[in-house]
Amino acid sequence: MNIWDSLKSRHAAIKDRPLLALFEEENRADMFCVELENMRFDYSKTNIDPDTRADLLHLAEQACVAEKRDAMFVGRRINETEDRAVLHTALRNLDGGPVIVEGDDVMPGVLDTLAAMRAFADKIRASDITDVVNIGIGGSDLGPAMAAAALAPYHDGPRCHFVSNVDGAHIADTLHGLDAKTTLVIVASKTFTTIETMTNARTARAWIKDHGGTPARQFAALSTAQDRTAEFGIDPAQVFGFEDWVGGRYSVWGPIGLSLMIAIGPKGFDAFLRGAQAMDRHFVAADPLENMPMMLALVGIWHNQICGYTSRAVLPYDQRLTYLPAYLQQLEMESNGKSVQMEGADTEHHTGPVVWGAAGTNGQHAFYQLIHQGTRVIPCEFLIAANGHETDLAHHHTLLIANCLAQSEALMRGRHLTEARKLMEAKGLSGDELERQARHRVFPGNRPSTTLLYPRLDPFTLGQIIALYEHRVFIEGVILNINSYDQWGVELGKELATSLQPVVEGDAPTDGKDPSTAALVTYIHKHRV
Ligand code: F6P
Repeated sequence: MNIWDSLKSRHAAIKDRPLLALFEEENRADMFCVELENMRFDYSKTNIDPDTRADLLHLAEQACVAEKRDAMFVGRRINETEDRAVLHTALRNLDGGPVIVEGDDVMPGVLDTLAAMRAFADKIRASDITDVVNIGIGGSDLGPAMAAAALAPYHDGPRCHFVSNVDGAHIADTLHGLDAKTTLVIVASKTFTTIETMTNARTARAWIKDHGGTPARQFAALSTAQDRTAEFGIDPAQVFGFEDWVGGRYSVWGPIGLSLMIAIGPKGFDAFLRGAQAMDRHFVAADPLENMPMMLALVGIWHNQICGYTSRAVLPYDQRLTYLPAYLQQLEMESNGKSVQMEGADTEHHTGPVVWGAAGTNGQHAFYQLIHQGTRVIPCEFLIAANGHETDLAHHHTLLIANCLAQSEALMRGRHLTEARKLMEAKGLSGDELERQARHRVFPGNRPSTTLLYPRLDPFTLGQIIALYEHRVFIEGVILNINSYDQWGVELGKELATSLQPVVEGDAPTDGKDPSTAALVTYIHKHRV
């Protein structure tokens, strides 16, 4: 029997056993967790037992995860559909020695760009610039926006804003109240062609010009396309380039992180890179069983491909990680939302799950009802720091932790009908009404979750966490034999939007459009003033 089948039959045999019973095995809480010096990843509240785990590890071995990881780190062209290396790890390889790509060491270029970013960030932080507006979308927005929110306690530079949506409301609301003479606009776009970003960039340029600012001084660009940044009129001294081996959703570590660097300072940004570098080193060196990205990925494969749970909730009990679910949506869904294997055949298994979530405890008062009592099982991934930054509000943090731990316990433990009956009896109910009310108060339990614990959300730790998830995506992609580094699935919509633009403007007929789309356009024409 192949390992996939073996895992599926194991699941069929054990799927209804109580998770709590697994703790009869001595030390399960420590045996089913991975610890780093400062972090603990607990997956003991899942239905993975020693045999299942052995099979999962075997699956990774059979997929050659270790060999493929090494190929990625040394710059082989593992992004085969775009014929590119995948080297975001080089951006945080601060003192890790050369990275040779086709005979050339890429590190001098990486370190020179980093030095230029530091000098520019220091200059801006010492200048009269009060606000920085990063204009980008997808990977050119979500990384720095997520990290800037996460690291708010470390901000000591100009205020940072992020504009991504082509909806004019986004840029209008963001620029409202800003001073056009003291605002720096950073246009972040790997390709410098993305329609949303270029439209917003032109609007920002007009705003600066019309309100007495100096676009030449107040614009910077982050891009691989320096011909296009020049064409846009951005001073080459304020352009920070990177190579095509940095994928958009993996780009926060380089120039795309400039707004974050300006906000928290070059030293804080260095700590962020060092955290990621520490996770890279751990990923490369640790044995599979002690390897945090490996075990996080195998838990993901177990839940999604073996148990058939189609979504994954990311639940950071950390207000400042509010954008982490959105960031991980792009990282995981754009990377592993594929249907074709590397060699072109259809995939044999379902690929990436739907990733979603929100910061705790807000989610508890919104969607946890479904997680606890709905008909679908949703594996939950909790994140929590031992300490908050608000030391004078430590009692808030105690409550936050208690809520986080309570949720994973409740999901596992559930509440049996007999217990629910007792509760209703205590309320004075009896007979049919007791039975009816009790049934509504049953929690099936046995709902799996993992918890990632860390001391405090500082730049180093955030770097570790993001690199951890990046490597998880890589491992899951390797096991599924898909290319995690292309994103052809976003192209069709972009092409159709371009062809629809003149139709919406009324300059081209709806001929050739399907009747539904044509009717939608007709409605828009009728109601647009
Ligand atoms: O949505 C597709 C995508 O190509 C993402 O992968 C990328 O992060 C985003 O668009 C932005 O692209 P760019 O940085 O080239 O503007």
